[in-house]
Amino acid sequence: MKRDEFSGFFGVLVATVGSAVGLGNLWRFPYLVGQNGGAAFVLIYLAFVLIICLPIVISEFIIGRRTKSNAVKAFQILAPRTPWSAIGIIGVLSAFCIMAFYTVVGGWTLDYLFRSLIHLFSKPDISLMESQFTSLVTSPVRPIIWTVVFIIFNAFIVMCGIKKGIEKYSRIMMPFLFLMIVILMIRSLSLPGAEKGVTFLVKPDFSKINTQVVLAALGQAFFSLSLGMGCLITYGSYVPARENLNKLAFFTAISDTLFAILAGLAIMPAVFAFGISPQEGPGLVFIVLPRIFAQIPLGNFFAVMFFIILLIAAVTSVISLLEVITAYITERLGIKRKIAVTIISLLVTACASFSSLSQGVLKDVKIFGKTMFDFFDYLSANILLPLGGLFIVLFVGWYMKKSQVYDEFTNQGALKGTLFRAYYFVIRYVAPVAIVAVFLDLILR
Ligand code: TRP
Repeated sequence: MKRDEFSGFFGVLVATVGSAVGLGNLWRFPYLVGQNGGAAFVLIYLAFVLIICLPIVISEFIIGRRTKSNAVKAFQILAPRTPWSAIGIIGVLSAFCIMAFYTVVGGWTLDYLFRSLIHLFSKPDISLMESQFTSLVTSPVRPIIWTVVFIIFNAFIVMCGIKKGIEKYSRIMMPFLFLMIVILMIRSLSLPGAEKGVTFLVKPDFSKINTQVVLAALGQAFFSLSLGMGCLITYGSYVPARENLNKLAFFTAISDTLFAILAGLAIMPAVFAFGISPQEGPGLVFIVLPRIFAQIPLGNFFAVMFFIILLIAAVTSVISLLEVITAYITERLGIKRKIAVTIISLLVTACASFSSLSQGVLKDVKIFGKTMFDFFDYLSANILLPLGGLFIVLFVGWYMKKSQVYDEFTNQGALKGTLFRAYYFVIRYVAPVAIVAVFLDLILR
């Protein structure tokens, strides 16, 4: 059977941007900026994206398209009978780890969306807002039900395949997503006192910078670009041979970063305009924003819009995580896509239930001092992804033949490849050294 493919440049782009733009931009980025010194964090983040992550995006695409295989088999083809395919296996495990907490947040989003739709025409009660979040996330059953609904949405799309599923739905949802975040940003910037939020995002406070902050910025750059676990290897394997991988990687990184900044500009001004601390942490978008929506004209309408944005962003990202495992299982075991997705979804539901319960009933069960929810988040973003990224650059920079890499970089010589030398230098030296340095500094401290 012929392997499914994306239809062309725009098709791949919406899908990869869909994967990249997610809760990482809307939920994780703003609260990390808040906790880690505002603009200083943003600057370090941008440097990581451009210098280190962009070349890694290209590297993942190269591995994927060269082999037209899932994240594990790709390494088995390029490096037969070596342990390199462990990168792919760890990637598959990371996908579970990320989905374990990500789908729970997706569930909260559905719950909020549902409630803001119900209250669309009534006056919200501000005093209720605070307690709402805690009561939702700590309750044992309700968030799990919403999480299951959320997982079913994603499973449905992935079951439909690449062109007729992932690409088709991304094409519909992504343009809408960008339009809505711009509208929301304008609303937020027009609030009295919004400038303070903008200042916070652009004026660096370097005294807040330490190794933890640098690691958080690196982890966030990986997380936001869906890097380091084979997601882009998998998507890359569906990219038609004629498409330019560099252009694709560049537009993906730019769109993702642009979206993070738009999200920051939609959220921070509102936070500051209402005199709220930007250091709220993970509850920022669920506690603080509804409180703001409750106090602005047409707030209910904007609340609905915000939670639709969050939902779309989350869905187009989770489908990419689901696809990593689905591609692996279907190609490895030779089973039908629908069956594979069903099995995976059940497993994800099990992991997600634990991380959901760890917000309430199981909050005293700690792994390395963290609740299961925080543990999955920390383990995947700050450890597994940078480590995966390190091995991927080592693989492309030092294991693969330079001619192989060059071939794929230039579509077998059809493109000029002017930037090849710079790219190759970064993945051979700069990226590995930078990632190791950040880790070492953290361990030795
Ligand atoms: N990048 C997505 C976000 O910002 C999350 C995501 C999707 C992801 N696929 C990934 C993160 C693969 C790491 C690896 O929300």
